[in-house]
Amino acid sequence: MCPSILNADRNNLQSEIGRVAISSDLLHLDVMDNIFVPNLTFSFEESTEIISNSPLPVDAHLMINDPDEMAPLYAKAGAASVTFHFEASKEPLKTLQAIKAMGARAALAVKPDTAFHEIEILLSDIDMLLIMTVEPGFGGQSFMSEMMPKVAQARQAIEKIDRDIWLQVDGGISVETIAIAARAGADAFVAGSAVYRAQSPSEMLDTLRKLAVGASSL
Ligand code: DX5
Ligand code: ZN
Repeated sequence: MCPSILNADRNNLQSEIGRVAISSDLLHLDVMDNIFVPNLTFSFEESTEIISNSPLPVDAHLMINDPDEMAPLYAKAGAASVTFHFEASKEPLKTLQAIKAMGARAALAVKPDTAFHEIEILLSDIDMLLIMTVEPGFGGQSFMSEMMPKVAQARQAIEKIDRDIWLQVDGGISVETIAIAARAGADAFVAGSAVYRAQSPSEMLDTLRKLAVGASSL
């Protein structure tokens, strides 16, 4: 489980991260530049500070226009995993390799309108594929179940590759939707509002994890 701090209390980030640390695998950091998406979140400097102080390994999700230049810098800053958008990248293969060279997992994200076949050729070079289940930009949007055929298609292709490639979904993940995504083949889940709107974020993460594990073993 990867809680997103996009909608956490910005003035108390350290304690907000503390509330989810015990039940999470990675901390999902949504970086937006107000160009690639119509929203602005953390600058590189703010991100670096979060990465340096986080008790959890950081999963940086870059929704920015110049990922080829910036993504390796996030890896260098200590992010455990760096995800950039295929749609924003001019040289995705080179950027994936540069992230890996800095010691992080290299991940590629696709927006809802990008078909799986557009990135299929890159699959053997990535450590994680993120299939967006909302239009990137904001938390609290509705889960797009119409993305599930894309998730299933990606799962099938990943199974043919002899390497541990994670398949992540991000957007609208909640107790109502996580099992649907897990059944389609996702094995890494970002959840923002479902976690931070819950009375106990950490109990919510445990519940979500159980639902995902239950659904994927069906
Ligand atoms: C959306 C972000 C998501 C967002 C998820 O662009 O990439 O990570 O924070 O928030 P929820 O879970 O509320 O959809
Ligand atoms: Zn995200």
